Amino acid sequence: MPAPAEGPAPVPHGSVPALPLPAGSRSAAGLAVAVSGGSSGIGRAVAARFLDRGAAVAVLARRGERLEALLDEHRPSRERTVAVAGDATVRAQVEAFVAEAEKRLGRLDVFVVNAGLNVRERALDRLDPADWRRMLAVNLDAAYHCTQAALPLFRAQGAGLFVYVTSRSARRADGSGAAYQAAKHGVVGLAGAVRFEEERRGIRATVLYPGVVNTPLVLQRPVPPSPEDLAEALQPDDVAAAVEFVATLPGRVVVSEMEMYPLRPM
Ligand SMILES: NC(=O)c1ccc[n+]([C@@H]2O[C@H](COP(=O)([O-])OP(=O)(O)OC[C@H]3O[C@@H](n4cnc5c(N)ncnc54)[C@H](OP(=O)(O)O)[C@@H]3O)[C@@H](O)[C@H]2O)c1
Repeated sequence: MPAPAEGPAPVPHGSVPALPLPAGSRSAAGLAVAVSGGSSGIGRAVAARFLDRGAAVAVLARRGERLEALLDEHRPSRERTVAVAGDATVRAQVEAFVAEAEKRLGRLDVFVVNAGLNVRERALDRLDPADWRRMLAVNLDAAYHCTQAALPLFRAQGAGLFVYVTSRSARRADGSGAAYQAAKHGVVGLAGAVRFEEERRGIRATVLYPGVVNTPLVLQRPVPPSPEDLAEALQPDDVAAAVEFVATLPGRVVVSEMEMYPLRPM
């Protein structure tokens, strides 16, 4: 008698027809997407992915020359793009960014609230009060400014999606430090308020919780990851792919949270 099979027979690769996308899914090309912190790492990858898809894209970061380089590489025509050199911790500069995006792109479907940083001296026994304040300003206050600046436009449109890039450390404490974790927890609270207060106006909020991503930010760790770890970490475009997935779902779908991390512990 043959031995009983251990589970279903494997399906030959490529033999399963692709399922249709959910009704109402939007193509990335048809979206207008704003990204704070578009000059490096995750934000740059998100902007690059949407630029390559043909979307309208607005990027904000302090290093304007890097935003220009991003556009040179991915949309040299500059068609349907906005690049603003500005500080996301300064309300007026965020408001000017959103106003410019609205003026030049006509609307805004998605705001990827991503600008962030960490400091090397992050352990509680060394954390400097000025660094605490700076961490809260960039990782939390800036997210609040982006949210309030885009809210009137999202309300007028009756639709809009905020995607907040927080961190896995907002779910379980790790070595990223008290200020970083406190700020990222704060963004989770901010996103919850958006959902509670604004969903009835068609406005949605997703919180992403990435684990280690291969970007310059992790080089700020007291002990930077090894090249081997960085190779097996999430890559910026992995996070960008998650953003695209959420952004292209039908407007009736709320993805409240998404956690992603490298398979290999690090
Ligand atoms: N890398 C990771 O392992 C990881 C894991 C989880 C979550 N995250 C989060 O992912 C987000 C992006 O970080 P990343 O890893 O991609 O780091 P990154 O490569 O260092 O990029 C950080 C981005 O934030 C921008 N930024 C910083 N301060 C700003 C300010 N005051 N105004 C405007 N833009 C500002 C930077 O642009 P300028 O310097 O040009 O202003 C840069 O574009 C952050 O929120 C970070 O906390 C990262």
